[in-house]
Amino acid sequence: MTVALKSPRVPDHVVDAQFTGRWSPRAFTAETMSEEALLTLLEAARWAPSAVNVQPWRFAWGLRGDAGFAAIAGALVPFNGWAKEAAALVAVASKTTRTASDGSEVANPSHAFDAGAAWVSLALQAHLAGWAAHGMGGFDAEAAAKALDLPEDHVIHAIVAIGRIGDPASLPEALRAREVPSQRLPLSALAGHGKFPA
Ligand SMILES: Cc1cc2nc3c(=O)[nH]c(=O)nc-3n(C[C@H](O)[C@H](O)[C@H](O)COP(=O)(O)O)c2cc1C
Repeated sequence: MTVALKSPRVPDHVVDAQFTGRWSPRAFTAETMSEEALLTLLEAARWAPSAVNVQPWRFAWGLRGDAGFAAIAGALVPFNGWAKEAAALVAVASKTTRTASDGSEVANPSHAFDAGAAWVSLALQAHLAGWAAHGMGGFDAEAAAKALDLPEDHVIHAIVAIGRIGDPASLPEALRAREVPSQRLPLSALAGHGKFPA
């Protein structure tokens, strides 16, 4: 469905429409997602850049109605209960170490940065394919690690809900007003020429 924007997103500089068009809804239609459609999104994430091409991102996924979905959904905080209506859930983790040339395991300081790149690739591919992906930090990390067999030296960063954008009327009243794409700080507050903005 097309959502009428209360305040349209207008970039400070011209960018491809995918960047302003992607947003994070909480209302999803009842449409299910095929495994192939979900794997396409993870494929986009797979091609993200990473330091030394370590590819530290890891994903655990489930489709609504299956055991994987229930395992991920069970870790969500109550505020994110809306995500249980999504077509798919993906837990995004990364391996915090990498194997050095001498075979030892050393810390990988860019694991979280790289996992962030992978999640955005997933979200943009979802948007391009007519889905919407909504990242959530609101989950019980211990419960998720246990339910999803998180290996040692890994950390879960977020759970992503994916679905087709639905009718805000399906949401609890408190969430309905928020069902609109958000704005951004001006670019001048985020980027400085030769130095960071104060
Ligand atoms: C790491 C991360 C954690 C987030 N956690 C939550 C969350 O727990 N619940 C929620 O409803 N939205 C959550 N969000 C969604 C953000 O609020 C949203 O991305 C932000 O307001 C920008 O809006 P947009 O994605 O629609 O452009 C999270 C987003 C990110 C990237």
